Amino acid sequence: MSNTQARVPLKARKVSFSWDGTPLHWVPEDPFTTHTINVLHLLLPAGERWFVHVYKQVLPYIRDERLREDVIGFIGQEAMHSQAHDEVLPHLREQGLDPTPYTAQVDWFFEKLLGDRTLPPGRARRWWLMERVALIAAIEHYTAFLGNWVLNADELDRRGADPTMLDLLRWHGAEEVEHRSVAFELFMHVDGSYRRRVRTWATAFSALVFLWQRGARFFMENDPTLIDGKASFKDFHVRGRRGLLPTAGDMLRSIPRYLSRDYHPSQEGDTEQAVAYLAASPAATAAEKRAA
Ligand SMILES: [Fe+2]
Ligand SMILES: [Fe+2]
Repeated sequence: MSNTQARVPLKARKVSFSWDGTPLHWVPEDPFTTHTINVLHLLLPAGERWFVHVYKQVLPYIRDERLREDVIGFIGQEAMHSQAHDEVLPHLREQGLDPTPYTAQVDWFFEKLLGDRTLPPGRARRWWLMERVALIAAIEHYTAFLGNWVLNADELDRRGADPTMLDLLRWHGAEEVEHRSVAFELFMHVDGSYRRRVRTWATAFSALVFLWQRGARFFMENDPTLIDGKASFKDFHVRGRRGLLPTAGDMLRSIPRYLSRDYHPSQEGDTEQAVAYLAASPAATAAEKRAA
């Protein structure tokens, strides 16, 4: 096994961040990049809480001790991610950007639309659980993609992006790279149907694009410092070319990889790089000290 694929035991790092010194536009003079990345704080608290909720239900179906350990480690990490992004929201509110109208919709999406539904025990209930396990595997393809991207997004440092926000994004991104195989291996273990993989990928991808562009537009329109804040695909394209956001081309190229029959997440990203970041991250090292 190469270093990029080595298995690491997963543990939650109980990080905490102080947002007092972080400006509203934490990528200086670039509200569009700031807010496009800020959409993470809108989607992840509810989304990752939902991962945890679904995975607790799937634990009884796991017949492999090592995978069970990985899933438990994954649950711990995602719960911490959800909380850390949630804690950015009061800071946005203090700066005059109240995200509640948007987060209320995201909460509805994950808790009601993708929630448990009243199903009798049996086939229908199992079908809906497997569908959600597959959706999580597809979403995790993108969290690993974004994690790998942000670990390598040196342009954000060159533009003077806020170090605390960068540490939040990279601590999270590194843990996404670290645990990137868990959701897919779980899906393959409990179901693995190729048709389900394709179907849920299409749902997850469309939902992510839809929610993301709406979130970016919401922030741009409600930013109290912008007079006529807008978000367009052109803005996105330009930032991608500058290395401030992922490029549309990279995102498109990631699609056939997930849909390939030979796909395995270990082929994406670099575990060694993720582990090295976590060993140096201010938030992660402070968390380790507190734990010790
Ligand atoms: Fe996460
Ligand atoms: Fe994850």
